Parts: sequence; C-alpha cells; structure tokens
Amino acid sequence: MPAAPQRPRGLKDILPAEQPYWVVMTRAAEAMAVGAGYQRIDTPIFEATELFVRTVGETSDVVTKEMYTFLDRGGRSMTLRPEGTAPVVRAYFDAAMNNGPQPVRLYYLGPFFRYDRPQAGRFRQFHQFGLEAIGDAGAGLDVEVITLGWRWYGALGLRGVSLQVNSIGDAECRPRYRDALRQYFRPYLDSLPADDRARFERNPLRLLDSKDPQSMSLLEAAPRSLDFLCEPCRAAFAQVQAGLGRAGIPFAVNPHLVRGLDYYTRTAFEYWHESLSGAQNSLGGGGRYDGLAEDLGYRPTPAVGFALGLDRTEGILQAQESAPAIYALAVEPSALEGMKALAEQIRERGLAVIADVSDAQLDVKLRRADRMRAALVLLVGLPEDGTECVSIRDMKARAQQQVKRGELHDRVRGMLAAHAAVPG
Ligand code: HAM
Repeated sequence: MPAAPQRPRGLKDILPAEQPYWVVMTRAAEAMAVGAGYQRIDTPIFEATELFVRTVGETSDVVTKEMYTFLDRGGRSMTLRPEGTAPVVRAYFDAAMNNGPQPVRLYYLGPFFRYDRPQAGRFRQFHQFGLEAIGDAGAGLDVEVITLGWRWYGALGLRGVSLQVNSIGDAECRPRYRDALRQYFRPYLDSLPADDRARFERNPLRLLDSKDPQSMSLLEAAPRSLDFLCEPCRAAFAQVQAGLGRAGIPFAVNPHLVRGLDYYTRTAFEYWHESLSGAQNSLGGGGRYDGLAEDLGYRPTPAVGFALGLDRTEGILQAQESAPAIYALAVEPSALEGMKALAEQIRERGLAVIADVSDAQLDVKLRRADRMRAALVLLVGLPEDGTECVSIRDMKARAQQQVKRGELHDRVRGMLAAHAAVPG
C-alpha cells in the first residue's frame, strides 16, 4: 500500500477544540476595528511577485529566503502573500481610495505564507489580524493604531504582554544612522558570521536584530537611532510617547527594536509576550511606513499599521485558559453607543471587555458570549424613557442583576474575583 500523504511541514490544522479561541480572537478583532471606524478589506491570497519584492525590500529575509513563489500557466511570477501591508496599499490605489476622505482605515484577517524553518510558534501558513491607516502623517494615528492593538490583547484577557516602541527615523536622518552603525561594526567585521556580514553590507539596521552571540554582545554599545533623529522625527516620537502615556498604556522604549521588513519609517513597535523568547518573542508588530507607497510607484502617501499573529496568541490563550472575559452587548440598537462607551470606560480601568457591536438579536449575542466562555455579560439597555440601565449576568451562576452605573466597576471586579476563586 502506498504511504498515506503527509501534512506538509510547517502547516497545521485548526481543530474543533481550537475553534473557540479563533472565534474569540476574530470577534474581538472585528469589534475593535469596526468600533474604531476601520473597514474590512480582503485582498487575494497571491499577488504578482514584484509587489513584494518592491515592498519588503530585496534585502529583507522575507524576500531573500521566505517567499512561496511560482510561475502561473502564463509564465508570470506570482507569490503567496507573506504579509498584508503591500497588498492593502496596492488595493487602496487600485480602488482610488486616495481620492476620498483621509485617512482610510482598513483591517483584515486571514492567512499568510512564509517559507521559514518551522519551529514552535512559527508556521509556513499563519494568520494575522491587521490594521492599516493610510493617508495621514500625524503621530496621533500611530497612537490610535498602537492603542487598538494593546486593547485587543486586553479584550482577550491576555496577560504578560509588553509593548516595545522605537523610532528608526526617515529618509532624511536614517542614512546618517546607517553610516554610524557601519562605522561602529567595521572593526569587528571579520569576527561576525556570514549572515551578519551580509546584513552589514545590505542593511546594517538588521544587525540590531541579530541572534548571533558575538553580534549581540556588540549591540550594547552600538549607536542608537534615537540619537540620530532629525527634528520632525524626534518631535513625532515625543508625540507618540506622550499619546501612549495619556492613553494609560505602559510601554518600553527599546532602542534595539528594528522590524524584519524594510519599509518602516519613524515609529516601529512590537507586542511581546513573557512566555515567548528568542526569534519568536513577538506576538505582533507594526509601525509607520511613509515611504512604501512611493517605493511601489504610487503617489507618496504616509501610513501606519500593525499585524498581530493569531497562531501565537491562540497558543497563549489556550495555556492560560481561565482568563475571565467580560462580554458587553446592547439589548436594543439604541443602546449601542452607550454600551461602547461603557466598555471603553471599563477597559480604561484595566479590565478586558469584548464589545459586541453587531446588530444581531439578543439571544444570538448571548449565545456568542457563552461560546466565548465569557464569565460575565454586561447587558446595556435604553428603554423608552431614555434612562440607560445596565445588568450583569453571571454566566456560570446563570444569575442576573441590575446595577447602578456608579457601582458597576466595583461589582464587576468583585464578581470576577469570585469567579477566579470558584473552580469551574
Ligand atoms: P511581521 O512582524 O512580519 O509584520 O508579522 C506580524 C506578526 O505575524 C508577528 O509578530 C507574528 O506574531 C506573526 N507571524 C509572522 N510570521 C509568522 C510565522 N511564520 N508563524 C507564525 N506567526 C508569524 C508584518 O507582517 C507587517 N505587515 C505588519 C504591519 C502592518 N506593519 C505595518 N502594517
């Protein structure tokens, strides 16, 4: 009998037992994105190879080693999308979205493909939740995007996430920084591994991302991009930090943070998780890419975005199974805005809330909350007399009580604490 076909290396099935996590992640992503005015976009699974070669930069590992590229029957070179930013920018211009009001806020969820050595948390087909805000250069948009990513992890009840931010400058100031890095590493060149010597030649910023012990030991004293920023980049980075501070989002300025793709300018950021280490420590990341549109041959257009990996997040969610989740919903459509505001208030005080912003029937929303294993459901109503009323339903005890707005937060905290204490 011939051997049964094998599942290709680096690919996986998302089995029924894992599906609830995917429902939680995608629903939270949709609620978060739609609630902030982002519209969904789905681009094709493959594109002309040229798009990615121009985008991710010929020097990045993604292009040099990791693309699934093939010739179609017409002899054209095509590539399974390794990332979503380039296709979204292409679609933005294809559909003339640049002619409408700016910025254009878009989000996506779907599979991506990279031919990398498979290991824990690294797959050849993986999934991302991405946001791209295109057409506005203001640092306020960086803050919005970074905040939404942070809140997504919060909505999932994911603990142990940290936010790392850096600014890697722009076309104006980066050349000086690149020169300084080359100057610093040149005397040690012979002792570096071949990979890092190639990085030195092609794009010395990538040296900051080296996993080689010798290169890493040199990084300590290496020049930092933050010391080379031109005035506009410096001011923008100060605004990003101030904005995150105002939003109450903790972050670390990490001067060694560079991203694996070459298109970034100014802000670069990553969400890390304490359980991940080495090359796979990033749960998600993004930044500003003001030069990408022009590199692709379009009109120069500033933009910022992120992509959050769903596969790694799912692994962590499974591991911390007991995370209490609050699910907020509007009992009638007129209460939707009030419900969103309430959810935001609770999040601001450090609790994770998934807000159901759909216009589904009440029983459908309650079933969703149940499937997501929410501990508590907040039901926000706006009866005819116009006074908002909020009830908390304890999903395990199947009990529901009405609460005054002012007491809500303490009551929710108390109930969650009780949940954690009661084995389920
Ligand atoms: P990236 O850092 O290449 O950024 O990928 C984002 C996230 O996707 C990573 O942090 C990781 O969680 C996940 N990921 C990447 N490769 C794999 C893999 N082989 N297996 C499992 N998970 C993986 C981007 O893709 C940019 N397009 C992000 C962006 C959007 N920048 C601006 N806008």
